[in-house]
Order: sequence, then C-alpha cells, then structure tokens
Amino acid sequence: MVRRYVFGSPLETDAVIKKPEACGSKTQFFEKEGSTLRYMMDEEDIVYGLGENVRGINKRGWIYVSNCTDEPHHHENTSSLYGAHNFLIVAGKGKRPFGLFLDTPDKIAFDIGYTKHSLLEIRIDGMDYELYEFEGETPDEIVKEFREMIGLPFLPPKWAFGFGQCRWSYRTSQEVREVARQYRENHIPIDSIYLDIDYMERYKDFTIDRESFPDFEALVSEMKEQGIHLVPIIDAGVKIEEGYDTYEEGVKNGYFCKDENGEDFVVGVWPGRCHFPDMLNDEARRWFGLKYKFLLDKGIDGFWNDMNEPAIFYSERRLKETFDKLEEYRDINLDVKSFFAFKDMVAGLEKNPEDYRSFYHNYRGERIRHDKVHNLFGYYMTRSAGEAFEELEPDRRILMFSRSSYIGMHRYGGIWMGDNKSWWSHILMNLKMLPSLNMCGFLYTGADIGGFSCDATEDLVLRWLSLGIFTPLMRNHSCDGTRRQEAYAFEDTEAFAGIIGLRYRLLPYLYSEFMKAVLKNEMYARPLGFVWGEDPVARRTEDQLMIGESVMIAPVYEQNAAGRTVYLPEEMKLVRFGGTEITEERELPAGHHYIEVALDEVVIFIRKGRILPLAQTAEKVDDVDWDTLELIHFAQPGAVYELYDDDGAERHPKLEEHISEIVL
Ligand code: GLC
Repeated sequence: MVRRYVFGSPLETDAVIKKPEACGSKTQFFEKEGSTLRYMMDEEDIVYGLGENVRGINKRGWIYVSNCTDEPHHHENTSSLYGAHNFLIVAGKGKRPFGLFLDTPDKIAFDIGYTKHSLLEIRIDGMDYELYEFEGETPDEIVKEFREMIGLPFLPPKWAFGFGQCRWSYRTSQEVREVARQYRENHIPIDSIYLDIDYMERYKDFTIDRESFPDFEALVSEMKEQGIHLVPIIDAGVKIEEGYDTYEEGVKNGYFCKDENGEDFVVGVWPGRCHFPDMLNDEARRWFGLKYKFLLDKGIDGFWNDMNEPAIFYSERRLKETFDKLEEYRDINLDVKSFFAFKDMVAGLEKNPEDYRSFYHNYRGERIRHDKVHNLFGYYMTRSAGEAFEELEPDRRILMFSRSSYIGMHRYGGIWMGDNKSWWSHILMNLKMLPSLNMCGFLYTGADIGGFSCDATEDLVLRWLSLGIFTPLMRNHSCDGTRRQEAYAFEDTEAFAGIIGLRYRLLPYLYSEFMKAVLKNEMYARPLGFVWGEDPVARRTEDQLMIGESVMIAPVYEQNAAGRTVYLPEEMKLVRFGGTEITEERELPAGHHYIEVALDEVVIFIRKGRILPLAQTAEKVDDVDWDTLELIHFAQPGAVYELYDDDGAERHPKLEEHISEIVL
C-alpha cells in the first residue's frame, strides 16, 4: 500500500513514473512539523535504505545528508557521497515494516538516532516536496512497491557482467594493448578495459588524443576481436576552447549553465576553465546525449559518466578573489589564526557551496538556481546519454554507469561507488552498500575493486575480488600514482585467474538472478534480515548477504585472517572453490561456524531446497556455454531453478520469454 502526499509546490524530478493519487496531509507514520518529520524508533527497529552512504546496512546511529558531493573520503564520519537516495524502510520486530520516500532535490538530513538515540528525525531544506509512505508485510514487499513506482532499472549488455580493468590512466594505445596482452597471456578472464580521462585531447569530451591514440578506431576493433570492450569516461565539464565544436555549439545555442548576469558560468575542472551543459534543459540534454555518437560511431558500446555532482575545482570568480586576498598575507606574520585562514582559503576553492548558488538552469522554461536542483544534475547527465542511446541504438543495450545519481537515474544507468581506498574496511563498505542501493533501484553497481586511492596489497585485492565476483559491475580501478593492482601485477597470478574465472562459472546464475530481480522489481543482494526477519542474529548480521535465491556469501575482509565466523540462519551447504574447481561440499547445521578460507579460495553457502547452476569457466562472457550447466544444490530431486537467459542485448526483454525451468 502506497500513500502519496504533496506539500507546497514541489518541482517535478521525474523520479517516479507511476504516481498514486495524492491524499490529505496527515502522514501515517511520521509526525510532521513544517519540513521536519519525526518517528520514535523502538530498540528493535532496523532502518534500511538510503542507497549510497557510509556505515551499516542498518543505518541507525548516524546522520546522512542527501547532497551529491565529489567526496573522495569515505570515512565513518562522512555524511554525503555522490548520490541522493531518499528512500528508507523501518523494519521492527513483531510489527509490519513501513517505508518512506522523499521526492525533492533539496538537501535532506536523515538524523537516524544521531542526535537522540531513539529519534529518527528528517529535516528537509525546503517546504516543497512529495512524500510517499509504503506499507507491506515484509521489507521485500515494500521494496517492490517502491520500485514498481519508479520504473525498471537500467539493463547493461551481458558482456558488462564480465570482469573489467581500469586505471587512471592507460595513457596510450600501446598501454591498452599491453594490459590486454597480460590478461590474455596469463589466461585471466576479461571483457573490458576502461579509458580514463587521458584518452581525450586536453580532457575535452568527445575528442581523442591523436598523439597517444593515433589508431583509436583500429584499437577498438582489435580489442573487440580479442573480446575486449573499451569503455571511455565522459566528464560533466566542457572545456572552453575556441574551435572545439562541443564548446562552440553549446555557446551558440545557449546550452550552458548561466551566471546571474546571463553569461555562461565558468568553473575549473580537469581541462581548466569549463562550462557545464545545462543537463536540466530538455534541448541541451538532447544535444549533449547525441554527442556520444562520436564514440558509438567508432565502435564504442559502453561509457562511464564522471564528475557529475557536478564537481567544481574552483569558479573563475572565486579564484580571482582568492588570488587578490592571498596577497594580503604576503608580508604578515602568519600566526595560528591567519595561517589557517590562509590555508583554508585555497582549500575552500573546491566544491564551494557559494559557487553552487551562483549559476542557473533553464528547467522547463523556468530559470532555477543550481542549488535548488543540485541533486538532479548527475541523474540528468546520465539521462541525457540514456535517452540518446534509445534513439541511436534502439536494438542493443549500451553500458552506462555514473558517479552521481538521484532516484530515477536507475532507469538510465548503473552507478559505481566512487573513489574508495585500498583499505580492508572498504571491502565491507562495498558489501553493505550493495543491498542499500538495490532497494533504491540501483542494481548494476559495484565498487572499485582493490580500492581507488592508496596502495593495494595482493591479499587485499584477492579478498576484494572474492566479494567482487558477486557484484554485477565487477571492475578493478585505481588512481594515478598508486601501486599497480591489475590481476597480473602480483606474484600469484594463478590465484587471480582462479577467482576471476569463478565469476564466469557463476555467470548463468548471477545474470539470471540479476535479470529476474530487475524485471520483477526485486532485490538482487539481500541483507539476511530481509530473509530471516524474525531471527535476532540474522537481523543484525552486517557482513554476509544473500545473492539471489540460492547463495549466501560471507567474504573475508580482514588482513591476515585465515578465515572467519559465518552465521547460518538455517541448515546450509558449504561449497568451497579452489580457484574455479569445487574442492569441498559439506552440509552444516544452523548456527555459528568458523570457516577457513585460503587466499585463493572462495566459500559460499547454498540454501536448503535451492540450486546453483554453474557453467564451465571461460575467458570472456561470449565464450560461456549456457547450455552445459553443472547443478550444485542442497535439494531433493524435483526441485526447480528458473534460469533466465537472453541474447544480452535486447533492450526490453519480457521475463516469460526467457525463463526455462531446470528440474533436478
Ligand atoms: C574521479 C573518478 C575516478 C577517475 C578520476 C579521473 O576521481 O571518480 O574514478 O579515475 O576522476 O578521471
């Protein structure tokens, strides 16, 4: 049951595509006072949701702020990351769960027992918003109600379920060829190599640096012949440069965001001075989206959209003011106050809130100051590409994922979890974010495996991969200047080949579970509390997940650990893989078990009555043989698994047409 309330005159965000009639103003679960909502939590209430955020699957005990931010520090005290996902579920014990969605681009603080232990207080920065309340028997049912309202998630092509290798940056064609060679020669499966900002000429969107990539088109087809898709990045800022077509067309047609005087607003990002395309303006959005054709025409079939919070290094105006002010400090004695003021002045150039209040959009004919629609920018950039792909490529799926997002964007692309670090704690963060994002419609997602910044170690990357093989987006990515962390960069290349190879064995199951979850508006990765809601231990388990209907995962995420304790809410079958081979199958009773897991092993648990179909391993998705499946199971003859399969390209597949029953 869904109830919709409208307060003030909210801006249409296009998050929801099926809106129920609005009802009165008396909300059922929340006490409302102006733009503040309050709910007193029972000790047993678990708060799920909020998509991309730090901390637990249970969000209690912190304050989260919906304010899309280019935030490279995913610490415990971080309140905002790249997305704004205002959906949550309160699931208590012995009572029906309920859900809440707030549809407004305004900043919102979700204070979930931070100020007061038992108080859930939500403070919205404006007076105009739509509020939805959901009721159901289970959290799964609430997710379904919500997702039915916001529309089906984006479908990536099947090859995008293969392993991808990225780094900022592979700087030349030769370097890309070398990465491909290493993977293929070491027999480590791979389906994609990502191109970060250095493939562009002076960081200009929709250009190629012909000095470093003179043979770009040939490289794309040569890679395709090896079964490797190249996936270039597209950034939000468009470089100001005479003679650059995207810049000149944007200026001529008035497609860039304006300052208060109606001039194109100038910000600094990678290329230096840039303008932001007005992604909220329908015409500008269509124009920008169709620009991706430049790369589609070169054989590219996947992209990642970045810096679309949008990230701002500086605004031209603030930079000038800062330089003027810095002069004042030249000859003074820098004491504690003046030194910090001096230092903060330069640091404060980046992501300055005042800059976000200094430019304007033309949204459906109305001039709107950016901060009023800030949380929509990343969504609309990705929508721009998504709409263009529908138009340009009606017969096949194009891979797209974005850094910034708002609910609604899930229909046009996936997201990756942004600039994490090569830290053990970030493996766990990756695991916890997965179900929270699924609730909000983001199913095609994953983190930078091995960690983006900081130096990785071999054991960290192996352990992270053991989780990563279950995330729909499985990509190893790292920052410039960090230790190399490609799967061939460490000593035990075989261990890497084994774990990544296992991903390909699991593909029929993972793809099937992903597609069923998308098409039925269900979860792909579930917290244990969703399945065993009355089990007090399962409800509080934050380091294990159900992946699809058959498999529970419990990855190791501590350095030097020989294994870990795993909680089984019911009797299950342990299946151990040494690389791609099954080395052990053992039934275990419900309860806690210490399970040893070597670095080159992956251990999973199969639910009673369930089946896991496994393919033979392959070195690319195209080579996976979906017809010869081995069935691992903990079930009696007669048990059924519904296998989903399609050509991996069809844009709007119908579930019934692609399901076949596997009977044990
Ligand atoms: C941002 C992205 C990161 C990318 C870098 C350079 O930090 O989040 O993934 O590598 O920019 O483009």
